[in-house]
This record gives sequence, structure tokens and C-alpha cells, in this order.
Amino acid sequence: MGTAPLHVGPGRVLAVVPAAGSGDRLGLGVPKAFVEIGGDSLLVHAVRRLLAAGVDHVVAAVPSADLDTARLALGAVTGGSVEVVVGGADRVASVLAGLLAHWPIGGTPADPVPTDVVLVHDAARAFQPEVVIRAVIAAVRSGAPAVIPVLPVVDTIRTVSPDGACEQVVDRANLRIVQTPQGFRPDILLAAHGHPGYAVAGPGPLVAVTDDAALVEASGVRVHTVPGDRDGLKITTPADLQEARRMTGSTPAAPRVGTGTDVHPVEAGRDCHVAGLFFPDVDGCSGHSDGDVAAHAMCDALLSAAGLGDLGTVFGTSDPRWAGASGAELLTEVRRRVEAAGYRIGNVAVQVLANTPRLSPRRVEAEAVLTAVLGAPVSVAGTTTDGLGLTGRGEGRAATATALLMPVTAG
Ligand code: CTP
Ligand code: MG
Repeated sequence: MGTAPLHVGPGRVLAVVPAAGSGDRLGLGVPKAFVEIGGDSLLVHAVRRLLAAGVDHVVAAVPSADLDTARLALGAVTGGSVEVVVGGADRVASVLAGLLAHWPIGGTPADPVPTDVVLVHDAARAFQPEVVIRAVIAAVRSGAPAVIPVLPVVDTIRTVSPDGACEQVVDRANLRIVQTPQGFRPDILLAAHGHPGYAVAGPGPLVAVTDDAALVEASGVRVHTVPGDRDGLKITTPADLQEARRMTGSTPAAPRVGTGTDVHPVEAGRDCHVAGLFFPDVDGCSGHSDGDVAAHAMCDALLSAAGLGDLGTVFGTSDPRWAGASGAELLTEVRRRVEAAGYRIGNVAVQVLANTPRLSPRRVEAEAVLTAVLGAPVSVAGTTTDGLGLTGRGEGRAATATALLMPVTAG
């Protein structure tokens, strides 16, 4: 090992939490560490457990766009101090960003209290039990330079050729699943990450590393193990998220419904658009846009379900951008807004009240068009009002709609 390590020695436990990944495999459109279970993000769950298990200080590395969100959320976690920094392009870079925040190159640590254990813990393993975290810390304190929690492999493991054909069964007796937190003597981890203050003599072998233990091992250090726990699973896919929700007894946030109604007067000579279709030879409706009562009622239902106001507040009749806009254009913008607000459209049902046009011959076509626009099932129905009221007299057309939204980010 190189130079005598500064601010490394008997004292505190520091944890670096890489939380800067995008969560592509989860596919929720938000960085994975900010996906919520039971009202708190995975990052908050992970940090809370670390502090409860005896960690003194946490450095979380998050995407740059989420610095403020993370600081706000982690500010409420008690039991130790928390610092938030911007992560890097891959996991190793994010861990290094966390380490450098505490041990700046050529600088003095912002917090000069010595540290004798450093943990690296994925925000994605938010539910690793305290007992595992404590075991890792204890093993480093009793002299192991590097420690990882592991689980035995229970499944049969095989190698398979690139074309999918089975090759051979691998003896699983000596195989282990590797988890986090991984614990290290600080000087060893800093050296493995190439920190110049702790440089090892000569470069270690160049290997593709996916965790810190592999990095440390590449610099010739022996890595020890402690028992991990199934609850420490890395939440990677939607099925993992379901499993974590089941494990923690958290029920998903409730779906939300909304309703919408629209009425327009019929105007002689105008093009007729209803439910996303054009009906030649029928008078259309007057109105700011194309007068499609069905599409407008659907927009209101979606906006009301998401709590995003209504058609008037979103598209304002004074806004020239939406003058003459088609129903499909308005629905596309509404869909964008409800998805940005964290919802997925479950389905939408709309009913048109009008004497004309007759919808039944083109109902299936209307459903296909609107379903394609919203990316969710749309059912279209039509009725007359038996000659009663403004629709019965043919003065206007009306539509009512109901929408169901499913929350995608909340737990
Ligand atoms: N991580 C990070 N910085 C990166 C990439 C990943 O801090 N540039 C973190 C993740 O936030 C996560 C951990 O490393 O806590 C493990 O990575 P992984 O499970 O692969 O998370 P993501 O990269 O977010 O997911 P995906 O690969 O599906 O996009
Ligand atoms: Mg990743």
C-alpha cells in the first residue's frame, strides 16, 4: 500500500451509495433510485437502513438533474449525516465521485474525522436487512480488508451456447450470488479506484468490473464473505419491484378515475369530426378546435383523473396553437401530460349523444384510431336522446367520458 492514509483510521463508518443509474430495465421513465415504495424512494429506504445499522455518514451519488430532489428527501432521514453529489457515467464512476467528495484528490477532506470502514451500497438494494449491513461492518473491523455479502445458488446453473443450445451444468456448490453493501478498509478501496493519494505499486490487471470487490481483488486483495439475505435483492426489473412491494407489505398507490363532458352546437357547413373520425355529408360542430365532442370529453376525463385541470385551463381558447387542432392532437398532448405526471392510461370509455352521425357502422374504426393515439384501450358508444333536449332537437352534440389512470412511480 502507498502513502500513509490521511483521515483513514479508527473512527467512523462511511457509506457511498451509487444511485445515479437511469433504471432502463425497470422502464418507468424515472431514475430507479427515485422510484417509490410505500411513499419513500428506494434511495431513502437504502440510506435509512444504512444509518440505522451504524453507518455514521452517507454520500449518495445521484443524476445531476436530481440533486435537489435527493437533498430534500434525504434531509428528512435521521440517525447520521448525509451528503449528495453528482454521479458518473457508470457505476464505478459514481462510486468514485462519492469517494472523492470525502477524500478529495490533493485536498483536505471536508470532514476530517477518520474513517475505518467504507461501505459501497447500491440504492437498488434498498431493503438489505440491517443485520447484513452490521455483519459487513463487523467483519472489516475485525481485520478483513474487503468483505461482501453472498447467497448460495439454489438453481441449477448451465452454460449455453450463443444459439441457445445447452452446453454443460456448472457445479453450484462453490458458486455465490454477490450483493451489497460491500465493505472495505478505506485505503484499500481508494487505492483500487486509482485515488492518487493511495496508489498501489504498479497497475492491477485490467478486468471488466461490475462491483467494488472485483476492483479491489484486481489489485491483489483477498475478499472475504458474510451471509447475505434474499431481501437484499437488486431491484432491476418490474418483477423485482413487485417482489419488493410484496416483501415490504406495501400496496401500490390506488388507480385514479376521472370524468369529462363536452357539448358543442351543430353548425351548418362545417366539417364533422367525431371520435377521431371525419364524417363527410354531415354538418360539424362549431368550436375553437375541430369540434370533436368525444375527443374533448376524453381529454377532460384524463386531465381530471390526473388532477391536471381541464381542457380550458390546458389549451385555453385564446391560445392560437390549438385553434383548429384535431381531437387526436389534443389527446396526444393530454397523454404526454398525464404520463409526465407519473401515470399510465388504463382505459378510456366515451359515449356520444347525438342524432347524427350514426356511429355504429364506424365504431370499431373510431376505437382503433383513439386506442392508437392513447396507447390504451378506448371504447366508443353512441346514443340518441329520444328527441329530447338540445341533442334530440339536433341543435348540438354531447359526449361523456370516463378515464382510468394507473400510477407508475408511486408505491
Ligand atoms: N449506478 C450509478 N451510476 C451509474 C449507473 C448505475 O450510481 N451511472 C447505480 C444505480 O443507481 C444502482 C446501482 O448502481 O443503484 C446498480 O446499477 P443498476 O442496478 O444497473 O441500476 P441502473 O443502471 O439504474 O439500471 P439499468 O441498468 O436497468 O438502467
Ligand atoms: Mg445499470
